[in-house]
Amino acid sequence: MLGNFTYCNPTKLYFGKDALEGLDEELPKYGKNVLLVYGGGSIKKNGIYDRVVAILQRNGKTVYEDPGVMPNPTTEKLKEGCERALAADADLILAVGGGSVCDYAKAVSVSAHCGEDPWEKYYLRFEEPADDLPIIPVGCVLTMVGTGSEMNGGSVITNRAQKLKIGHVFGERVFPKFSVLNPEFTFTLPKYQMISGIYDIMSHILEQYFSGTDDNTSDYLMEGLLRSLIHSAEIAAKAPLDYEARSNIMWIATWALNTLVAKGKTTDWEVHMLGQAVGAHTDATHGMTLSAVSMPYYRHILPYGTAKFARYAASVWNVDPRGKSEMQTAREGLAAMEAWMTQLGLVMHLSELGVTEGMLEGIAKSTLVMDGGYKVLTAEEILAVLKESL
Ligand code: NZQ
Ligand code: ZN
Repeated sequence: MLGNFTYCNPTKLYFGKDALEGLDEELPKYGKNVLLVYGGGSIKKNGIYDRVVAILQRNGKTVYEDPGVMPNPTTEKLKEGCERALAADADLILAVGGGSVCDYAKAVSVSAHCGEDPWEKYYLRFEEPADDLPIIPVGCVLTMVGTGSEMNGGSVITNRAQKLKIGHVFGERVFPKFSVLNPEFTFTLPKYQMISGIYDIMSHILEQYFSGTDDNTSDYLMEGLLRSLIHSAEIAAKAPLDYEARSNIMWIATWALNTLVAKGKTTDWEVHMLGQAVGAHTDATHGMTLSAVSMPYYRHILPYGTAKFARYAASVWNVDPRGKSEMQTAREGLAAMEAWMTQLGLVMHLSELGVTEGMLEGIAKSTLVMDGGYKVLTAEEILAVLKESL
Protein backbone atom coordinates (compact mmCIF):
# COMPACT_ATOMS: atom_id res chain seq x y z
CA MET A 1 0.00 0.00 0.00
CA LEU A 2 2.08 2.91 -1.20
CA GLY A 3 -0.45 5.69 -0.52
CA ASN A 4 0.25 9.33 -1.42
CA PHE A 5 3.68 10.87 -1.29
CA THR A 6 6.04 13.22 -3.04
CA TYR A 7 9.59 12.22 -3.80
CA CYS A 8 12.45 14.55 -4.59
CA ASN A 9 16.08 14.25 -3.63
CA PRO A 10 18.02 17.38 -4.61
CA THR A 11 21.53 16.18 -3.66
CA LYS A 12 23.91 15.66 -6.57
CA LEU A 13 26.38 12.83 -5.98
CA TYR A 14 29.89 12.36 -7.32
CA PHE A 15 30.90 8.74 -6.69
CA GLY A 16 34.15 6.80 -7.18
CA LYS A 17 37.90 7.24 -7.17
CA ASP A 18 37.70 10.48 -9.18
CA ALA A 19 34.77 11.92 -7.24
CA LEU A 20 36.72 14.81 -5.70
CA GLU A 21 37.03 16.35 -9.17
CA GLY A 22 33.33 17.09 -8.83
CA LEU A 23 34.32 20.04 -6.65
CA ASP A 24 35.63 21.83 -9.74
CA GLU A 25 32.15 21.56 -11.22
CA GLU A 26 30.30 22.60 -8.07
CA LEU A 27 32.43 25.38 -6.54
CA PRO A 28 31.90 27.96 -9.32
CA LYS A 29 28.16 27.91 -8.51
CA TYR A 30 28.75 29.60 -5.14
CA GLY A 31 30.25 32.87 -3.90
CA LYS A 32 33.82 33.44 -2.80
CA ASN A 33 33.60 32.68 0.92
CA VAL A 34 33.77 29.02 1.90
CA LEU A 35 33.55 27.80 5.47
CA LEU A 36 35.54 24.55 5.60
CA VAL A 37 34.13 22.39 8.40
CA TYR A 38 35.93 19.30 9.67
CA GLY A 39 36.47 17.10 12.70
CA GLY A 40 39.34 16.26 15.01
CA GLY A 41 42.10 16.01 12.44
CA SER A 42 41.82 12.70 10.57
CA ILE A 43 41.62 14.61 7.27
CA LYS A 44 44.95 16.28 7.98
CA LYS A 45 46.63 12.92 8.63
CA ASN A 46 45.30 11.15 5.53
CA GLY A 47 45.90 14.03 3.11
CA ILE A 48 42.26 14.78 2.22
CA TYR A 49 42.53 18.24 3.80
CA ASP A 50 45.43 19.26 1.53
CA ARG A 51 43.66 17.99 -1.57
CA VAL A 52 40.44 19.85 -0.74
CA VAL A 53 42.21 23.11 0.12
CA ALA A 54 44.18 22.96 -3.15
CA ILE A 55 40.93 22.65 -5.12
CA LEU A 56 39.33 25.50 -3.17
CA GLN A 57 42.36 27.69 -3.90
CA ARG A 58 42.46 26.92 -7.60
CA ASN A 59 38.80 27.91 -7.73
CA GLY A 60 39.65 31.28 -6.21
CA LYS A 61 37.85 30.76 -2.91
CA THR A 62 38.61 32.49 0.36
CA VAL A 63 38.74 29.68 2.90
CA TYR A 64 37.58 30.14 6.49
CA GLU A 65 37.96 27.17 8.80
CA ASP A 66 35.74 25.62 11.44
CA PRO A 67 37.66 22.61 12.78
CA GLY A 68 37.08 20.42 15.82
CA VAL A 69 33.59 19.08 15.14
CA MET A 70 33.38 16.22 17.63
CA PRO A 71 31.58 12.91 17.12
CA ASN A 72 28.02 13.57 18.34
CA PRO A 73 28.25 17.36 17.82
CA THR A 74 27.04 19.55 20.67
CA THR A 75 24.88 22.63 21.13
CA GLU A 76 27.96 24.60 22.24
CA LYS A 77 29.84 23.73 19.06
CA LEU A 78 26.76 24.63 17.00
CA LYS A 79 26.71 28.09 18.56
CA GLU A 80 30.39 28.53 17.74
CA GLY A 81 29.79 27.37 14.16
CA CYS A 82 27.00 29.90 13.64
CA GLU A 83 29.31 32.68 14.81
CA ARG A 84 32.05 31.51 12.45
CA ALA A 85 29.65 31.24 9.52
CA LEU A 86 28.39 34.78 10.11
CA ALA A 87 31.90 36.21 10.62
CA ALA A 88 32.98 34.58 7.33
CA ASP A 89 29.82 35.73 5.56
CA ALA A 90 29.87 32.16 4.22
CA ASP A 91 28.47 31.52 0.74
CA LEU A 92 29.04 27.77 1.06
CA ILE A 93 29.72 25.40 3.94
CA LEU A 94 31.98 22.56 2.83
CA ALA A 95 31.79 19.66 5.29
CA VAL A 96 34.71 17.22 5.06
CA GLY A 97 34.21 14.29 7.41
CA GLY A 98 31.69 11.78 8.66
CA GLY A 99 28.08 12.04 9.67
CA SER A 100 28.89 14.29 12.61
CA VAL A 101 30.58 16.87 10.39
CA CYS A 102 27.83 16.71 7.75
CA ASP A 103 25.03 16.89 10.35
CA TYR A 104 26.72 19.81 12.04
CA ALA A 105 27.19 21.67 8.76
CA LYS A 106 23.46 21.35 8.06
CA ALA A 107 22.63 22.57 11.56
CA VAL A 108 24.87 25.63 11.10
CA SER A 109 23.41 26.26 7.64
CA VAL A 110 19.87 26.53 8.96
CA SER A 111 20.73 28.19 12.28
CA ALA A 112 23.26 30.93 11.45
CA HIS A 113 20.65 33.40 10.25
CA CYS A 114 17.64 32.21 12.26
CA GLY A 115 18.02 34.66 15.14
CA GLU A 116 16.74 32.19 17.73
CA ASP A 117 18.24 29.44 19.86
CA PRO A 118 18.47 26.60 17.33
CA TRP A 119 18.33 23.87 19.98
CA GLU A 120 15.00 25.12 21.27
CA LYS A 121 13.59 25.96 17.85
CA TYR A 122 14.59 22.90 15.81
CA TYR A 123 15.35 20.19 18.36
CA LEU A 124 12.88 20.78 21.19
CA ARG A 125 9.97 22.50 19.41
CA PHE A 126 10.67 20.73 16.08
CA GLU A 127 9.82 23.91 14.12
CA GLU A 128 10.76 24.19 10.46
CA PRO A 129 12.84 27.08 9.07
CA ALA A 130 10.72 29.98 7.79
CA ASP A 131 10.27 30.04 4.00
CA ASP A 132 12.25 33.28 3.74
CA LEU A 133 15.08 32.23 6.09
CA PRO A 134 18.46 32.37 4.31
CA ILE A 135 19.95 28.87 4.48
CA ILE A 136 23.66 28.63 3.68
CA PRO A 137 24.22 25.92 1.05
CA VAL A 138 26.12 22.83 2.21
CA GLY A 139 28.34 20.46 0.25
CA CYS A 140 29.92 17.30 1.70
CA VAL A 141 33.09 15.32 1.15
CA LEU A 142 32.35 12.10 3.01
CA THR A 143 35.09 10.25 4.90
CA MET A 144 33.08 7.88 7.12
CA VAL A 145 30.22 5.72 5.91
CA GLY A 146 27.01 4.95 7.74
CA THR A 147 24.69 7.80 8.56
CA GLY A 148 23.38 8.67 5.10
CA SER A 149 23.82 12.32 6.08
CA GLU A 150 25.42 12.92 2.66
CA MET A 151 22.05 12.71 0.94
CA ASN A 152 19.42 13.55 3.53
CA GLY A 153 18.14 16.40 5.69
CA GLY A 154 18.98 14.72 9.00
CA SER A 155 20.96 16.62 11.58
CA VAL A 156 21.52 15.16 15.05
CA ILE A 157 22.72 17.43 17.85
CA THR A 158 23.56 16.57 21.46
CA ASN A 159 22.76 18.77 24.44
CA ARG A 160 25.15 17.47 27.07
CA ALA A 161 23.68 19.56 29.92
CA GLN A 162 20.17 18.30 29.25
CA LYS A 163 21.41 14.75 28.43
CA LEU A 164 19.43 14.75 25.21
CA LYS A 165 20.53 13.75 21.71
CA ILE A 166 17.91 14.68 19.16
CA GLY A 167 17.70 14.58 15.37
CA HIS A 168 15.74 16.96 13.19
CA VAL A 169 14.99 15.73 9.70
CA PHE A 170 14.90 18.91 7.66
CA GLY A 171 13.32 19.31 4.25
CA GLU A 172 14.88 19.54 0.81
CA ARG A 173 16.26 23.06 1.29
CA VAL A 174 18.64 21.73 3.94
CA PHE A 175 19.82 18.61 2.06
CA PRO A 176 23.43 18.91 0.90
CA LYS A 177 23.56 20.48 -2.56
CA PHE A 178 26.22 17.96 -3.54
CA SER A 179 28.25 15.18 -1.95
CA VAL A 180 31.56 13.64 -2.93
CA LEU A 181 31.72 9.90 -2.25
CA ASN A 182 35.14 8.37 -2.78
CA PRO A 183 35.30 4.93 -1.12
CA GLU A 184 39.10 5.26 -0.81
CA PHE A 185 38.58 8.20 1.56
CA THR A 186 37.17 5.72 4.08
CA PHE A 187 40.20 3.39 3.98
CA THR A 188 41.91 5.08 6.95
CA LEU A 189 38.93 4.54 9.27
CA PRO A 190 39.75 2.44 12.32
CA LYS A 191 38.00 -0.94 12.18
CA TYR A 192 35.80 -0.02 15.16
CA GLN A 193 34.39 2.94 13.19
CA MET A 194 34.02 0.92 10.00
CA ILE A 195 31.92 -1.80 11.61
CA SER A 196 29.99 0.73 13.65
CA GLY A 197 29.05 2.40 10.37
CA ILE A 198 28.10 -0.94 8.84
CA TYR A 199 25.68 -1.61 11.67
CA ASP A 200 24.31 1.93 11.45
CA ILE A 201 23.40 1.16 7.84
CA MET A 202 21.76 -2.14 8.80
CA SER A 203 19.81 -0.42 11.54
CA HIS A 204 18.57 2.32 9.22
CA ILE A 205 17.19 -0.31 6.90
CA LEU A 206 15.60 -2.35 9.68
CA GLU A 207 14.01 0.74 11.25
CA GLN A 208 12.15 1.24 7.98
CA TYR A 209 11.55 -2.46 7.28
CA PHE A 210 9.92 -3.56 10.54
CA SER A 211 6.62 -1.76 10.15
CA GLY A 212 3.35 -2.34 8.35
CA THR A 213 1.72 -5.55 7.11
CA ASP A 214 1.12 -4.51 3.49
CA ASP A 215 2.89 -5.68 0.34
CA ASN A 216 5.25 -2.77 -0.33
CA THR A 217 7.99 -2.47 -2.95
CA SER A 218 10.13 -0.59 -0.44
CA ASP A 219 10.45 -3.78 1.63
CA TYR A 220 11.80 -5.71 -1.36
CA LEU A 221 14.32 -2.94 -2.04
CA MET A 222 15.45 -3.11 1.56
CA GLU A 223 15.89 -6.90 1.46
CA GLY A 224 18.22 -6.44 -1.53
CA LEU A 225 20.20 -3.72 0.23
CA LEU A 226 20.52 -5.91 3.34
CA ARG A 227 21.77 -8.92 1.37
CA SER A 228 24.38 -6.81 -0.37
CA LEU A 229 25.41 -5.19 2.92
CA ILE A 230 25.85 -8.52 4.71
CA HIS A 231 27.92 -9.86 1.82
CA SER A 232 30.20 -6.81 1.50
CA ALA A 233 30.56 -6.36 5.27
CA GLU A 234 31.93 -9.89 5.60
CA ILE A 235 34.52 -9.13 2.92
CA ALA A 236 35.44 -5.71 4.36
CA ALA A 237 35.85 -7.11 7.88
CA LYS A 238 38.53 -9.48 6.58
CA ALA A 239 40.01 -7.18 3.94
CA PRO A 240 39.30 -3.54 4.84
CA LEU A 241 41.05 -2.26 1.71
CA ASP A 242 38.84 -4.25 -0.68
CA TYR A 243 37.59 -1.42 -2.91
CA GLU A 244 34.66 -3.36 -4.29
CA ALA A 245 33.28 -4.17 -0.85
CA ARG A 246 33.90 -0.70 0.56
CA SER A 247 32.32 0.99 -2.46
CA ASN A 248 29.23 -1.21 -2.17
CA ILE A 249 28.95 -0.40 1.52
CA MET A 250 29.25 3.32 0.77
CA TRP A 251 26.50 3.16 -1.84
CA ILE A 252 24.19 1.06 0.36
CA ALA A 253 24.59 3.57 3.20
CA THR A 254 23.41 6.38 0.96
CA TRP A 255 20.35 4.48 -0.28
CA ALA A 256 19.49 3.20 3.18
CA LEU A 257 18.68 6.70 4.37
CA ASN A 258 18.13 9.07 1.49
CA THR A 259 14.32 8.86 1.98
CA LEU A 260 13.62 6.45 -0.93
CA VAL A 261 12.91 3.25 1.01
CA ALA A 262 10.69 5.05 3.52
CA LYS A 263 8.25 6.10 0.83
CA GLY A 264 4.74 4.73 1.22
CA LYS A 265 5.50 3.16 4.60
CA THR A 266 5.27 3.87 8.27
CA THR A 267 8.67 3.56 9.92
CA ASP A 268 9.80 2.65 13.43
CA TRP A 269 13.08 4.31 14.60
CA GLU A 270 12.78 3.10 18.21
CA VAL A 271 16.23 1.48 18.11
CA HIS A 272 17.62 4.90 17.21
CA MET A 273 15.69 6.56 20.03
CA LEU A 274 17.18 4.07 22.50
CA GLY A 275 20.64 4.44 20.96
CA GLN A 276 20.50 8.22 20.95
CA ALA A 277 19.52 8.25 24.63
CA VAL A 278 22.50 6.01 25.36
CA GLY A 279 24.64 8.41 23.31
CA ALA A 280 23.37 11.40 25.28
CA HIS A 281 24.47 9.76 28.54
CA THR A 282 27.77 8.22 27.36
CA ASP A 283 28.92 10.02 24.19
CA ALA A 284 29.45 6.50 22.75
CA THR A 285 29.91 5.77 19.03
CA HIS A 286 26.51 5.95 17.32
CA GLY A 287 26.43 2.57 15.54
CA MET A 288 27.58 0.75 18.68
CA THR A 289 24.78 2.24 20.75
CA LEU A 290 22.39 0.73 18.18
CA SER A 291 24.00 -2.71 18.09
CA ALA A 292 23.92 -2.94 21.90
CA VAL A 293 20.15 -2.45 22.16
CA SER A 294 18.96 -4.10 18.93
CA MET A 295 18.61 -7.78 19.85
CA PRO A 296 16.71 -7.21 23.11
CA TYR A 297 14.45 -4.74 21.31
CA TYR A 298 13.70 -7.01 18.36
CA ARG A 299 13.06 -10.02 20.59
CA HIS A 300 10.70 -7.83 22.61
CA ILE A 301 8.61 -6.72 19.62
CA LEU A 302 8.78 -10.08 17.83
CA PRO A 303 5.32 -11.28 19.02
CA TYR A 304 3.72 -8.13 17.53
CA GLY A 305 5.25 -8.48 14.06
CA THR A 306 5.99 -12.19 13.75
CA ALA A 307 5.06 -12.52 10.07
CA LYS A 308 7.52 -9.78 9.05
CA PHE A 309 10.29 -11.22 11.20
CA ALA A 310 9.71 -14.62 9.55
CA ARG A 311 9.89 -13.02 6.11
CA TYR A 312 13.12 -11.27 7.18
CA ALA A 313 14.58 -14.59 8.31
CA ALA A 314 13.83 -16.30 5.00
CA SER A 315 14.61 -13.42 2.61
CA VAL A 316 17.70 -11.99 4.27
CA TRP A 317 19.21 -14.77 6.41
CA ASN A 318 18.28 -17.76 4.18
CA VAL A 319 16.36 -19.54 6.94
CA ASP A 320 14.37 -22.41 5.40
CA PRO A 321 10.79 -21.96 6.69
CA ARG A 322 9.59 -25.42 5.64
CA GLY A 323 8.11 -27.42 8.50
CA LYS A 324 8.51 -24.56 10.96
CA SER A 325 6.05 -22.21 12.61
CA GLU A 326 6.29 -18.52 11.76
CA MET A 327 7.65 -17.89 15.23
CA GLN A 328 10.34 -20.57 14.87
CA THR A 329 11.47 -19.17 11.53
CA ALA A 330 11.48 -15.64 12.92
CA ARG A 331 13.55 -16.66 15.94
CA GLU A 332 16.09 -18.45 13.73
CA GLY A 333 16.44 -15.28 11.68
CA LEU A 334 17.20 -13.19 14.75
CA ALA A 335 19.65 -15.82 15.97
CA ALA A 336 21.45 -15.68 12.61
CA MET A 337 21.56 -11.89 12.81
CA GLU A 338 22.95 -12.00 16.34
CA ALA A 339 25.67 -14.49 15.35
CA TRP A 340 26.62 -12.30 12.40
CA MET A 341 26.80 -9.18 14.59
CA THR A 342 28.99 -10.94 17.15
CA GLN A 343 31.26 -12.30 14.44
CA LEU A 344 31.64 -8.81 12.95
CA GLY A 345 32.84 -7.53 16.33
CA LEU A 346 29.96 -5.21 17.20
CA VAL A 347 29.23 -4.07 20.74
CA MET A 348 26.44 -6.34 22.02
CA HIS A 349 26.11 -5.00 25.59
CA LEU A 350 25.63 -1.50 26.96
CA SER A 351 28.10 -2.20 29.75
CA GLU A 352 30.83 -2.21 27.08
CA LEU A 353 29.93 1.44 26.40
CA GLY A 354 30.30 2.45 30.05
CA VAL A 355 26.64 2.14 30.99
CA THR A 356 25.97 0.98 34.55
CA GLU A 357 22.73 -0.26 36.07
CA GLY A 358 22.34 3.02 37.95
CA MET A 359 22.25 4.94 34.65
CA LEU A 360 19.38 2.98 33.11
CA GLU A 361 16.49 5.01 34.56
CA GLY A 362 18.03 8.24 33.31
CA ILE A 363 18.61 6.75 29.85
CA ALA A 364 15.03 5.50 29.78
CA LYS A 365 13.80 9.01 30.58
CA SER A 366 15.83 10.43 27.68
CA THR A 367 14.34 7.89 25.22
CA LEU A 368 11.67 9.24 22.90
CA VAL A 369 8.80 6.86 22.14
CA MET A 370 7.88 6.27 18.49
CA ASP A 371 4.56 4.96 17.24
CA GLY A 372 5.31 3.69 13.71
CA GLY A 373 6.61 0.18 14.49
CA TYR A 374 4.96 -3.03 15.67
CA LYS A 375 4.66 -1.97 19.32
CA VAL A 376 4.51 1.39 21.04
CA LEU A 377 6.73 0.83 24.05
CA THR A 378 5.60 1.83 27.54
CA ALA A 379 8.05 3.42 29.98
CA GLU A 380 8.37 0.02 31.73
CA GLU A 381 9.13 -1.73 28.44
CA ILE A 382 11.84 0.79 27.57
CA LEU A 383 13.50 0.17 30.90
CA ALA A 384 13.15 -3.60 30.44
CA VAL A 385 14.81 -3.49 26.98
CA LEU A 386 17.64 -1.35 28.37
CA LYS A 387 18.12 -3.75 31.30
CA GLU A 388 18.32 -6.68 28.94
CA SER A 389 20.85 -4.78 26.81
CA LEU A 390 23.17 -4.18 29.75
O1 NZQ B 1 36.96 13.83 13.82
P1 NZQ B 1 37.92 13.08 12.98
O2 NZQ B 1 39.33 13.25 13.36
O3 NZQ B 1 37.68 13.30 11.51
O4 NZQ B 1 37.65 11.50 13.28
C1 NZQ B 1 36.42 10.86 13.01
C2 NZQ B 1 35.62 10.53 14.27
O5 NZQ B 1 36.47 10.40 15.38
C3 NZQ B 1 36.71 9.51 12.46
N1 NZQ B 1 36.87 9.50 11.01
C4 NZQ B 1 35.99 9.91 10.07
N2 NZQ B 1 36.49 9.67 8.85
C5 NZQ B 1 37.70 9.12 9.02
C6 NZQ B 1 37.96 9.01 10.39
N3 NZQ B 1 39.12 8.51 10.88
C7 NZQ B 1 40.04 8.08 9.99
N4 NZQ B 1 39.83 8.12 8.66
C8 NZQ B 1 38.69 8.62 8.13
N5 NZQ B 1 38.50 8.61 6.80
O6 NZQ B 1 35.58 8.73 12.78
C9 NZQ B 1 35.03 9.18 14.00
C10 NZQ B 1 33.53 9.17 13.89
O7 NZQ B 1 33.08 10.12 12.98
P2 NZQ B 1 31.55 10.57 12.98
O8 NZQ B 1 31.35 11.58 11.93
O9 NZQ B 1 31.14 10.94 14.38
O10 NZQ B 1 30.78 9.20 12.63
P3 NZQ B 1 29.41 8.95 11.92
O11 NZQ B 1 29.54 9.13 10.46
O12 NZQ B 1 28.94 7.65 12.41
O13 NZQ B 1 28.43 10.10 12.45
C11 NZQ B 1 27.77 9.99 13.70
C12 NZQ B 1 26.78 11.13 13.91
O14 NZQ B 1 25.76 11.11 12.90
C13 NZQ B 1 24.47 11.05 13.53
C14 NZQ B 1 24.78 10.29 14.82
O15 NZQ B 1 23.77 10.40 15.79
C15 NZQ B 1 26.07 10.93 15.25
O16 NZQ B 1 25.84 12.17 15.89
N6 NZQ B 1 23.47 10.45 12.62
C16 NZQ B 1 23.02 11.17 11.59
C17 NZQ B 1 22.00 10.73 10.76
C18 NZQ B 1 21.47 11.52 9.62
N7 NZQ B 1 22.02 12.65 9.28
O17 NZQ B 1 20.50 11.11 8.99
C19 NZQ B 1 21.32 9.45 10.99
C20 NZQ B 1 22.08 8.53 11.87
O18 NZQ B 1 21.19 7.58 12.41
C21 NZQ B 1 22.82 9.20 12.99
O19 NZQ B 1 21.95 9.44 14.08
ZN1 ZN C 1 21.88 5.76 12.59
